[in-house]
Amino acid sequence: MTITFEWRGMVRNEEINRLHAEGFDHALVDADWTDVLSRLSLGWVTARDGHGLVGFVNVIWDGQLHAFIEDTLVAYRARRQGIGKRLIAVATEQSREAGCDWLHVDFDEHLKSFYLEACGFRPTNAGLIQLR
Ligand SMILES: CC(C)(COP(=O)(O)OP(=O)(O)OC[C@H]1O[C@@H](n2cnc3c(N)ncnc32)[C@H](O)[C@@H]1OP(=O)(O)O)[C@@H](O)C(=O)NCCC(=O)NCCS
Repeated sequence: MTITFEWRGMVRNEEINRLHAEGFDHALVDADWTDVLSRLSLGWVTARDGHGLVGFVNVIWDGQLHAFIEDTLVAYRARRQGIGKRLIAVATEQSREAGCDWLHVDFDEHLKSFYLEACGFRPTNAGLIQLR
């Protein structure tokens, strides 16, 4: 089935909420993604097949040179077909096009091969404080 990738494409809240709940294994919530994306994101990438949204990634930024990957998501039914890798490739191209010099991501250990080997990120030192 053909997959269509789009930068800043139209997306409905319920589609992302469904993908997010499935991808991060939590109950369905009613987050207002379209509001948040339009106010705070450099952009986002959608992947659609004939049945709907199968992939999504959000690209947030500092308004200048640094862009950050958040919430890379591919539906269970569409995984391991290269969709995640392509989502990141589009996010990379578009972040560069927007004038950013750096694209950041952090991830759990088991996704090292996805981000470092498949998507081309290089390892770096990073830090994190859990606030809640
Ligand atoms: C992580 C995720 C986005 C990957 O999407 P995907 O479309 O299945 O990934 P791709 O098909 O592009 O994978 C490309 C390569 O990355 C690696 N890879 C992908 N998913 C992997 C996983 N879960 N564990 C280890 N390596 C993985 C593999 O080398 C894969 O190539 P292969 O299938 O030929 O072995 C998807 O599994 C997902 O939505 N997970 C749940 C949400 C999540 O954890 N997101 C990341 C937040 S940081």
